[in-house]
Amino acid sequence: MKIQILGSAAGGGFPQWNCNCDNCKGLRNGTLNAKARTQSSIAASLNGRDWILFNASPDIRAQLESFEPLQPKQGKRDTGIAAIVLMDSQIDHTTGLLMLREGCPHQVYCTDMVKQDLSTGFPVFNMLEHWNGGLAWNQIPSTETYNEFTIPEVPGITLTAVPLRSSAPPYSPHRNDPHPGDNIGMLLKDDATGRSIFYAPGLGQIEEHLRPIMEDADCLLVDGTLWREDEMIHAGVGDKLGVHMGHLPQSGENGMIAYLDTLDKPRKVLIHINNTNPILIEDSPERGVLAEHGIEVAFDGMSIEL
Ligand code: MLT
Ligand code: MN
Ligand code: ZN
Repeated sequence: MKIQILGSAAGGGFPQWNCNCDNCKGLRNGTLNAKARTQSSIAASLNGRDWILFNASPDIRAQLESFEPLQPKQGKRDTGIAAIVLMDSQIDHTTGLLMLREGCPHQVYCTDMVKQDLSTGFPVFNMLEHWNGGLAWNQIPSTETYNEFTIPEVPGITLTAVPLRSSAPPYSPHRNDPHPGDNIGMLLKDDATGRSIFYAPGLGQIEEHLRPIMEDADCLLVDGTLWREDEMIHAGVGDKLGVHMGHLPQSGENGMIAYLDTLDKPRKVLIHINNTNPILIEDSPERGVLAEHGIEVAFDGMSIEL
């Protein structure tokens, strides 16, 4: 199975258009050893031709231009995107659907809660009905602990959706009333080899039911948004804590590094990195700490072969 990292940054990207934090400023003026990153999305394929797109970011045009296997190959109109899976209804994961309107209809896989947000607060399902059949909804079950399903357009991969505790986006009619299915993690398993990857770009809390999956996966591609819980305040760009945003920070006694340290088997990669995070600086002490713990930082264009 091939996994392509299309966008490794959190919402806003790196640098963020209106941000003058030390990281964004340093990247712009060339004083930091860091790479620009687009917003959160990956793609998975077995044959290199038919891809499942996970999340549709506002940067999707640039992401498709940067990755040849997703570009048109035959006929006058074509795409390597065989199906689209949404992990939640956040703006950084869904607004790219609008940019894909010329290619409708698309097969979109998401939970009932995400479908509801995308039919009310951000009614992209309704809007795109006017483009050649729009978005065909395929429901991802989210009521059980482990919800297995397959995508006929990309046979040979078994997906398991795992409900995660988090909040619906600020625009959601049920923002303050969390439901299972607002946010999911996804295990992708190659049926032929049994090799697997667990993808969870928004992981605020690592609940017990995630343990067997995270222990057994060959690779983890998990929430790398924040280094510290009060990072937005520390960087002088906001007042929200990680817990409010549904993102577990890397540092601290109960942080992501401490949790990942308890797992022996998987390759460990952080994704969905916020532009305030010091791990974006390749030679920062924080990046050094990750290296000591065997943890990698995803970048745009990174390929993972399982
Ligand atoms: C998040 O991951 O917390 C959101 O995507 C932030 C945002 O609104 O961009
Ligand atoms: Mn996000
Ligand atoms: Zn910034």
